[in-house]
Parts: sequence; structure tokens; C-alpha cells
Amino acid sequence: MKKICLLCVAFIATLTAKAWDYDILISTRNTSLLFSANQGEELRFSYYGDKITPAQIGQVHDAWIGMNRPAYPAFGMDCTRSHALQVVHPDGNMTLDLVVDHIEERDTENATLTIITLKDKVYPFFVKMNYNAYKNSDIIELWTEILHTEKKAVTLQRFDSGCLPIRRADVWVSHLSGNWISETYVTAEPLQRGMKVIKNTDGARNAQGAHPEVMLSLDGKPQENEGRVIGAALCWSGNYKIRIDTEDHHSHTLFAGINEEASEYKLEPKTTFTTPKLAITYSEEGLSGASRNFHRWARNGQIHGGDKQRDILLNSWEGVYLDVNEQEMENMMREIAAMGGELFVMDDGWFGDKYPRDHDNSSLGDWVVNKRKLPHGVEGLIATARKYGIKFGIWIEPESTNTRSELYEKHPDWVIRVPNREPRYGRGGTQILLDLSNPKVQDFVFGVVDDLMTKYPGIAYMKWDANLPLFNYGSSYLPKDKQSHLYVEYHKGLEKTLQRIRAKYPDLVMQACGGGGGRTSYGVMPAFEEFWLSDNTDAMQRIYMQWGTSYFYPSIAMAQHVSAAPNHQTGKSIPIKFRFDVAMTGRLGMEIQPKDMNEKEKAFAKKAIATYKDIRPVIQFGDLYRLVSPFDKKEVASLMYCTPEKDCAVFFAYKLDHYANQVIAPFRMAGLDATKYYRLREINVPDGEKPCHLDGKVVSGKLLMTVGLDIPLHKEYASRVFELNVVN
Ligand code: DGJ
Repeated sequence: MKKICLLCVAFIATLTAKAWDYDILISTRNTSLLFSANQGEELRFSYYGDKITPAQIGQVHDAWIGMNRPAYPAFGMDCTRSHALQVVHPDGNMTLDLVVDHIEERDTENATLTIITLKDKVYPFFVKMNYNAYKNSDIIELWTEILHTEKKAVTLQRFDSGCLPIRRADVWVSHLSGNWISETYVTAEPLQRGMKVIKNTDGARNAQGAHPEVMLSLDGKPQENEGRVIGAALCWSGNYKIRIDTEDHHSHTLFAGINEEASEYKLEPKTTFTTPKLAITYSEEGLSGASRNFHRWARNGQIHGGDKQRDILLNSWEGVYLDVNEQEMENMMREIAAMGGELFVMDDGWFGDKYPRDHDNSSLGDWVVNKRKLPHGVEGLIATARKYGIKFGIWIEPESTNTRSELYEKHPDWVIRVPNREPRYGRGGTQILLDLSNPKVQDFVFGVVDDLMTKYPGIAYMKWDANLPLFNYGSSYLPKDKQSHLYVEYHKGLEKTLQRIRAKYPDLVMQACGGGGGRTSYGVMPAFEEFWLSDNTDAMQRIYMQWGTSYFYPSIAMAQHVSAAPNHQTGKSIPIKFRFDVAMTGRLGMEIQPKDMNEKEKAFAKKAIATYKDIRPVIQFGDLYRLVSPFDKKEVASLMYCTPEKDCAVFFAYKLDHYANQVIAPFRMAGLDATKYYRLREINVPDGEKPCHLDGKVVSGKLLMTVGLDIPLHKEYASRVFELNVVN
């Protein structure tokens, strides 16, 4: 007991020490991050939360509102605690003792970048801590640049992007996980003593399994629209590790970065290792508030073309699978155009000459048209799309090949494999990953897009699939002593290649697909307009997946497709209205064989597509307010989008369970102007049915948000959508 008290006194004594030589205040519109340091000493984290002014810094220190924790703990001197950085110097020394060397601030149009350079007391080893505070969203990006001028390479054994101490309390973490056809489920759990680890080891797609983002609710069980929340998203496409260390009495500390397992990095003198960015946000408006911050930041540059309206498309996959042929492609184009769609995407199955892509065990890498299937080629299909007044898109999977392919026959050394072992293959028993650490492979992958765009400049959209994890850890390109760089260099190669593509083709719309939702990651999103959420298109399950995904990603990036009944993954037959009502909360599309739809379904689809066009600006650019979570098991789910001006909103409610005498609580809205009145209009009502009693009613924003509405959801698979407009 006594020992603990003494320790407490020691801790208090540190807190009451003299004022700091430096206070470094980094602020966005509504948030602040504060670091403090004494001359020649370590950088300390003081505060992250609601915005403070320079005049309040003293109060933060004096009243112990802030904390006094290492800002970026490095292994060595205090080796009793978790650390963000660990290295081995060429002389075998494993310690670092980093102190503040100098501080710079750079102002750009969108952000203020603060760089705090740390220097080791003994070795010529430096860490630049970067903090980029956005002016138009409450996001601060953290990353580090590690460099040295020692005689030989320094081995980096751990190299986190950042670390964030949080005061110990009833803090809950919400995170996403799942797997193929069950992606993006939310787990919310209180942080207990010890280390919570969220990580990915897929090697290629880092949202298969767990996702590289977390929400931390600081006031107990997570609430959607109230409570303080810190959100963190690691912007990296490869293996990552997020650790939350809950110590006995002081703090929870979040560490996030590239997963160091099997990734020791030998950093040569005078070269810089730049870690990926960790984007953090703080909101006092619950999980939804933190999500809105991420969404704004994403639309302002973290996803490609975040300010451009998205087209309504039909994708051929669930309609024909690999059985692509010219006539069928034309039929599908005619049908989607007649329903009001704007784009047709030909999925897998169109390519391969010597080895036609008839099954999933061949042809990846041979990106030439199969003339048997498409006698008039891609140019013929583009002309057909034009005839129907729509755009044309195409599927590729450029990071992989099959052993049955001309590419593999020519370049067996381009794949990731170990020379003296029989490789493990993926899909089709023959698929194998190309080695993107190799610049020649980077050129090839760039060339896949470049050749297609040069031959067929009419291609408006590309779906970039990635169905394989990284098996057979070994690169014939990387030298023997740098084999442990493969996980990192693969993704640096991918990033470089994507940047090249974007520099040349900024207007091409690209979808990131990871064999389902595996590429739902800010690591790749600067190069993609959108991602495919899951190969599970069952509308009921999509409610859960879309909910989780929306924690971090904006609707404009979420590809949500209406598919067949019975559903191909679950066999469930869900009414077309429910399927549309679920898909319409994101980037609406269809993934269906239109000729299998009956006339009533087609008529509904046509009307729903026209309706979506009306509400598209609110859905794609509005603010999301999640209302009733499907994960809360209240038998319903509900969410809404509002314009930033709060003059227009679209509200969605879904019934998840159905039985007699069911009690459903009123739906309380959010995000409206309490002082204004709104007219409700029920939309997406099937022909022959009447809108419910709420249609046309005018209700104050205050009543809608405080008391809420009883929404009639009487039948199984009932759902309702309302448009709300301010009444003058
Ligand atoms: C996996 C994707 O998730 C599907 O949408 C489809 O494109 C197939 N690959 C094609 O092989």
C-alpha cells in the first residue's frame, strides 16, 4: 500500500513542476492538441480535446486538466512501458533518448503543419513528428519521419505513426471486423486493464478481418449522438497494428502504425522512413459526430473525387458471373438505361486470349479482350453504351496472375514466392500475387490501366479487385538482407503505382474492391472514388455492414447495390422496396440480371432511381446522423442525412425483426434545426400502396428530435423513407 502512495506522490510532484519552456498548441476549428517540453528534454503530451486558447494553456497544466505523458515513447531508457518506436543501432545498442531539437510551423491553404524534430542525445538519429491540422474539418493527421546519419543501417523494430494518451475512465472502444461476406461488424467493448490489440496480417488487403480504425467513447457505453468521442484511422493499405494499453492508474494509450511483425526495416544512413498518417478526431456529438468529421475530411481530399456526384450503375457480376458475352452485355446496358441508370460496369470474365477467363483459375495478367466472348471488343461495348446514353466501366485485378496465364509464362519471377518451396495458391488453385516491391511489376500494373485507357479512352470507370492475401512470403526482387521489407515495400509500390495512375487519369472513376470489402481503407482511398463493401448483397445484412462502415467512411464512397431475390448469398427473398431503401443510403447501384426481374420490380426500380436522383445531393454530400443502431437489438434501425444548412433531410427506418404485439419506440431524429418546421413527404412508396399518415404533415424540428415519430412498420421487411423540407 505504502509503495503505491509513494508512487502517487512522485507522479503528483511531476505534475506540479514549473511551467514548461515550450507549449505547442495545435488546433482545428473545434479541437486542440497540446504538447509541452523543456529545453533539452523529451516531448510530453499534455492535452487532446475541445478547443482551448493559448490563454487557457496555463489552466490545463495548473488544474491537471491535461496529462503529462511521453508524446512518442521510444524504447530504451524507460523500458518499463509500451513504446511507439524501437530500433537497434549498428553497434548493437537498443536504446533511444529523444529530446526536442526544434519546432517549425507551415501554413498551407487547407491545413497548418507543425513539425517537431526530436534528436537522440548520443546518436545522430532524428524523428520528425508531423501534425497536420485541417482548417475545414476537425481532423489532425499524425505521422513521423525517421532518419539518421549513423555509419551503417539502423534496424527499425517498431515504428508507429503516432501515440495518443487518454485519461483513464470508463472508455469504450468500437471497432470493425468481419470476413468475406460478413464484413464490417461493430464490436463495442469497455477498455480493461491490459493491452487491446487490433491488427491485420493479410498482407495485401487490410480490411479483410479487422479494420484499421477505432472510435473511443470517453463517457461510457458508446452513444450515437451524445458523449465525447475520439476517432482514429490509420491511412495505410498494408498490415497494421493498433494497440490500446490500459495502465493501472494513469491512462489508456493508443498506439497505431504499420504492423512490425515480420517487418523489421533496415534504414540506411541519410534515408528517411516515413510512417503512414494516423488521422485523429474529437467530437462531443457522439459517434455520429466523429463520423461526420471523418466524412468531411474524406470528401475534402482523402478519397479521390470526393466533391463529384456519383453515377447510378449496373454491375454485371451477379447477373452473369464469368459468363460475359456481347449480347448479354448489350441487354444489360439497355435495361439499366431504361431504368434510368447512368453507367454499366462489365465485371470479371471479359479477357484472356490464349487462356480465356471462363473459370476463376486462369488468365489474370492477360488484359486483352477475349474475341470469342466480345467479337466487337471493348470499343464495341463503349459504342453500345453510348447508344443507350450511359457510360461504360470495366473490371481488372492487376495485382495478381494465375499460373495458367501468358503473363506467368513470360515472367514467373514477378510473383511473390519462396524459391525453394512449392507455392501456396489462392482462388481457383492457381492465383498468385505479383511482387509490387519490384519496379518492373509496378510499371506492368500501371501499364494495365494505361494500356486500357489508351486503347479505349471511352472507359469511364474501373473496378480494381484484389482477391488474394499475400502468401509465400518472399521476394526475388528484394535483397537477401531486406526480405523483411516485403510487407512494407509491397504497399509503397502499390501507393506509387496508384499515384502514377491518378496523375495521368484524374477523371477516371475507380472502385477499390478487395474480394468484397477488403480494401475499405484510407490507405488506398486517396486513389479511389469508392469501395465495394461486401460480396454479400443481402439487404438485411447490408444494414449492419453499412452501419459499421459509415463510422469512418462517407456515403459517397460506399458502393451499395440492389441484387436479386432470392439473394445469391443468403437465399432470402426480400421485397424490392426494402432492397432499394437499404441501398439508397450510399452510392446506389444494381447488381442483378434485369431480365429476371418482373415488370412490377422494374417499374419500382425506375421510380426509385428517379427518386434517388432527387435526393442524391443530400445523401452523397449531406451530414449523416445515425439514430437507432441495428447492433443495439431494438428490432429496428434508422439513420438520416441532413444538408449542412439543415433545410432538407432524408430519413430511413427499417424493421429488422417481426412478430405479433411488437412495440417499436418512436424514432427521434437528429441534425435538424430545432427552431424550424419541416414538411414530411414519404418517398419510395410502391405503386398501388398509399403513403402513411405522416405524409404531408408539418412538424417542428424540436418535436422531431425530442419526442420523435411513431413510424408505421407493420409488415415483415417494412421500411420507410421520408424527405423533410423546411417550411417557410
Ligand atoms: C470479387 C468481387 O468482390 C466481386 O464483386 C467480383 O468482382 C468478383 N471478385 C469477380 O471475380
